[in-house]
Amino acid sequence: MSSENYDIIVLGAGAAGLFSAIEAGKRGRSVCVIDHAKKPAEKVRISGGGRCNFTNVNTHPSRFISQNPHFCKSALKQYTQHDFIARVDQQGIKYHEKTLGQLFCDDSATEIIQMLLDDCAANNVEIRLSTEIIGVSKRDTEFLVQTSIGNMHCESLIVATGGLSIPKMGATPFAYELAKQFGLNIIDPRPGLVPFMFGGELLAEMSELSGVSVRARIDTGEIAFDEAMLFTHRGLSGPAALQASSYWLPGNEIEVNLAQRVDALAALKKGREEAPKKKLASVLETFLPSRLAQSIAEQTYASFRMADLSNAKLEEIAKRISAWRLKPVGTEGYRTAEVTIGGIDTNDLSSKTMEAKNVAGLFFIGEAVDVTGWLGGYNFQWAWSSGYVAGQNA
Ligand code: FDA
Repeated sequence: MSSENYDIIVLGAGAAGLFSAIEAGKRGRSVCVIDHAKKPAEKVRISGGGRCNFTNVNTHPSRFISQNPHFCKSALKQYTQHDFIARVDQQGIKYHEKTLGQLFCDDSATEIIQMLLDDCAANNVEIRLSTEIIGVSKRDTEFLVQTSIGNMHCESLIVATGGLSIPKMGATPFAYELAKQFGLNIIDPRPGLVPFMFGGELLAEMSELSGVSVRARIDTGEIAFDEAMLFTHRGLSGPAALQASSYWLPGNEIEVNLAQRVDALAALKKGREEAPKKKLASVLETFLPSRLAQSIAEQTYASFRMADLSNAKLEEIAKRISAWRLKPVGTEGYRTAEVTIGGIDTNDLSSKTMEAKNVAGLFFIGEAVDVTGWLGGYNFQWAWSSGYVAGQNA
């Protein structure tokens, strides 16, 4: 087996790894990217329903979850969403803003991958796919990376192997294990941006409503998200539920407002006044999707005419609509989670360079680090920004 030397080896050919390699390559450093997958940037390919929500024009540190909310500031400032948008423009990729500042390719996520691969080629970055990493060690100022295609040596090692989300796509705990080997701390990882699951009667109810989408506000007690919510065969999904899941801890309740834009009690009272002979469901249908209206009526006072519903009963129904308290039994877990919350403790990294404070030349970037964005292009922006910073300093 051969033995090769590089200035920098990047572990992981995802968004963060490729971006750091490009930036380091631009500085004239010799760079090799290693990945066990057959293809690079597979998560970019499937992201945003195949159109890659590649950044968010409203990127701001407050959109990121971390034990240290200040950590992400430096990287996000050194390489901003506007910098990435300028590169996408230069490539001629057409895109549009879908909602809430989220930028998606008009055509396909593969255009972003092609842009990254073009930049790798232009800056002499080598990419070794289908390559297993057997072990990493450091002697003096040099890292030895043992792989299935031979030993490699480098001055700087950038770890960009991501988190635990979607094991079927090749996610592994590699970054955490390597970090521990070098004495860095790990913030317990958990799935984020993941659908909620329910049990018992609630599950039966939600599964009946599977496919119904409603604009809802989900409050975790810490934060609330007002976006689309989707009933599924397992529970709740859609942007509002995914966002809330990143802040939810097992055992906690969430509060759902199914009619955020309407004063439910006032609407019910108005319905009673204007249509006293109507059944509850037909009044609920004026401000809720029909199947949801039927379901709420069935669980409360379906057989009553509006005229027969007392104020107390209307208050009870209004509460069921605007302050529905629910206890998820869990989430769908890493199988479907878009991201992993937690990871390499930011206390052990420099926010200016992404280098480990106690191991010169060792960098961690992207999702492996305890910085997780909201839904909406923030996670890729973190991959670009943290990758850029490591690429400048490795
Ligand atoms: P990423 O996981 O992308 O890359 C890690 C690489 O390391 C992979 O290529 C993997 O094969 C490799 N690897 C792992 N272990 C290894 C090992 N032991 N040996 C060798 N190689 C190893 N975000 C966003 O901003 N907008 C969006 O539209 C979406 N959409 C989306 C959809 C879905 C279905 C998912 C699952 C996720 C998203 N995301 C997203 C999140 C986004 O994909 C994610 O945050 C980034 O891909 C993280 O980039 P990284 O480069 O850090 O890790």
